[in-house]
Amino acid sequence: MEEQIPLARPDLGEREEELVLEVLRSGSLSLGPKLGEFELAFASWLGSDDAVAVSSGTAGLHLGVRALGWGEGDEVLTTPFSFVASSNCLLYEGAAPVFCDIDPVTLNIDPAAAEAAAGERTAGILPVHIFGYSADLIALERLADRREIPILEDACQALGAVDSEGRAIGTAGHVTSFAFYANKQMTTGEGGVLIPAGEQMAERLRSERNQGRSPDMAEVDHERIGFNYRMTDIQAAIGLGQVERLDELLAARAEIATTYTGVLSAAGAAPAGDGDPEGLVLPCADRGDEQRSWFVYPVQLPVDAERVAVIAALAAEGIQSKGYLPCIHTMSPYRERFGFKGGEFPVAEAVAARSLALPFFGSMTESDVERVCAALARALGLAPEGK
Ligand SMILES: Cc1ncc(COP(=O)(O)O)c(C=O)c1O
Repeated sequence: MEEQIPLARPDLGEREEELVLEVLRSGSLSLGPKLGEFELAFASWLGSDDAVAVSSGTAGLHLGVRALGWGEGDEVLTTPFSFVASSNCLLYEGAAPVFCDIDPVTLNIDPAAAEAAAGERTAGILPVHIFGYSADLIALERLADRREIPILEDACQALGAVDSEGRAIGTAGHVTSFAFYANKQMTTGEGGVLIPAGEQMAERLRSERNQGRSPDMAEVDHERIGFNYRMTDIQAAIGLGQVERLDELLAARAEIATTYTGVLSAAGAAPAGDGDPEGLVLPCADRGDEQRSWFVYPVQLPVDAERVAVIAALAAEGIQSKGYLPCIHTMSPYRERFGFKGGEFPVAEAVAARSLALPFFGSMTESDVERVCAALARALGLAPEGK
């Protein structure tokens, strides 16, 4: 049997090992110097004024929701086509997600749907830059400005993406959360960074991630109720090594994506918005100044394909794939709490039923990609058996 091709694999090198060893030998495993060094390096790479490191992207989103004061009785406009954490973070504070259908090409929240869903209780907007492609921030900012409500960006899949104004995601002035689980563009094992909106907010976030302690830590005084959302120095060390190589990591992923798009286009597929919407649909191409940051390579299977059978056929050839993502409102806690039945957001539901994440990581070889594409084509009957 040929070697297995996993869905994701982190790209870690000697530099990360060296930095982690430094931390292990220093004895300062948490709240040591590497945390601040990582925050500075990350902010400098991104071009933001500050960066607050936390234990996960979810922790970042939770602190973001609190920082914006969203709570009981508040409604927040968001997308159902996302990883569940982007909505759970609202529930933690008693706020309610108001789901809006998505754009069929970018797969991000449709600003027109958001406009239509806005009501008296709307306290903010939480767009997710799904699969590393920027949501329509300009349209959402217009809506937010008109209603004088804030935006919390879920950029957990979008480190390195650029919006239609040419702004790096995370630098538009909204509170923004990034995530570093091992399948992300860069990893710290688990971890995240929250970009604060201003110094005061940053101070509060640094206190809340550390059980509400004052920033100088002089006394064990807890000025507010906080959490243990700290990133350890071991994680920060891995992150430092990753930030040093981030341009290279992103470029390698972009190259793999280009190879995928080339090979699958030759088999008759087309990017979303460019070809037969009922056939094999690839991630949409960049438009204008927008620039996708490649997190996964998700395709939408032809409407008549059986996804379970395709996943099984790929698995039989040693290739991992995954239906990605199920809509949040169709998950049982959301159905039970809000009475969703399915059918409410037809675009998101149709995409969720067809989307499939293929193996994707920077160290894939061209022949790995070709092997995945050939197996997919065979499973879909797009190529002669055995080719
Ligand atoms: C869109 C989105 N939001 C939030 C998260 C949560 O990040 P974490 O797993 O670091 O908590 C993820 C993680 O995959 C994500 O994809």
